[in-house]
Amino acid sequence: MKGIILAGGSGSRLYPVTMGVSKQLIPIYDKPMIYYPISTLMLAGIRDILVISTPHDVPSYEHLLGNGSHFGCAISYAVQEAPRGLAEAFLIGESFIDSGRVALVLGDNLFHGGGFSSLLMNAARHDTGAHVFGIRVADASRYGVVEVGDNGKVLSLEEKPEHPKSDIAIVGLYFFDGRVVEIAKSVKPSTRGELEITEVIQAYINDGSLNLEILPRGLTWLDTGTHKSMMQAAQYVYAVEERSGAKIACLEEIALGKGWVTEADVRKAANSMGYGSYSRYLKYLCDEHH
Ligand code: DAU
Repeated sequence: MKGIILAGGSGSRLYPVTMGVSKQLIPIYDKPMIYYPISTLMLAGIRDILVISTPHDVPSYEHLLGNGSHFGCAISYAVQEAPRGLAEAFLIGESFIDSGRVALVLGDNLFHGGGFSSLLMNAARHDTGAHVFGIRVADASRYGVVEVGDNGKVLSLEEKPEHPKSDIAIVGLYFFDGRVVEIAKSVKPSTRGELEITEVIQAYINDGSLNLEILPRGLTWLDTGTHKSMMQAAQYVYAVEERSGAKIACLEEIALGKGWVTEADVRKAANSMGYGSYSRYLKYLCDEHH
């Protein structure tokens, strides 16, 4: 399975922070925001990743991530000329997807919690249909919101509804079968001028092949779309890492655990990163791994 990360958009809700730098490059505590969605794909077993960003910002992502081989992945890049909506990722990524199954993760979504890896591996195993995740939130009207029937089936899905039909938001992580490109091609721009991901998901609802999985309470989902939520996410990562001594979304650590890179690769990565706490952590991992 392949994965796409959408790391474009204007980031205007975070101005002036994002006037000089792409939103998904700014740090969430000790690593750039995009590390978190990359780790999500890696934990799902996905190594072939397309990063989509603006014409201006793609070179910065290339500079940061290179070809991804130092964390066991193959990263390629594509440009989205303007923020025309999440579903455009499937049109831009058509040749990358190559009629296979694909996961899309939004560059500003952060997940963490026990059991998350097995939940992801499970979602990645589905051959047909679409698999999305819902989570209960206090402010549903900020998100895509589902209406769920008594049998657990999704009846409808609305983007940022004024009057949400439930408190279950759809998170920015989606698994689709190979039909997604054709479906995305049939989506028309919404009244706000975007190709909405909700329209793509609606097509799967219509033919009865949408799977909704409600994330358990112990799983943390943070989005970083506002100054406040970005601060909360950084504080969360800081608190968990300080307390446990283990890092969230350390890409080299995930790759080492999966056997995608060797200890020597991780040492090399550590040496290229100077003497900061991230580099020290990588060296500590290698010593432990010995
Ligand atoms: O975070 C989950 C929510 O993400 C879902 O519940 C919604 O259904 C989904 O539409 C999306 O809502 P957002 O309001 O968060 O979408 P936003 O426009 O902020 O875009 C999300 C990320 O994708 C953001 O990091 C910028 C990037 N993006 C966005 C658009 C519209 C792109 O790279 N290209 C785009 O064209």
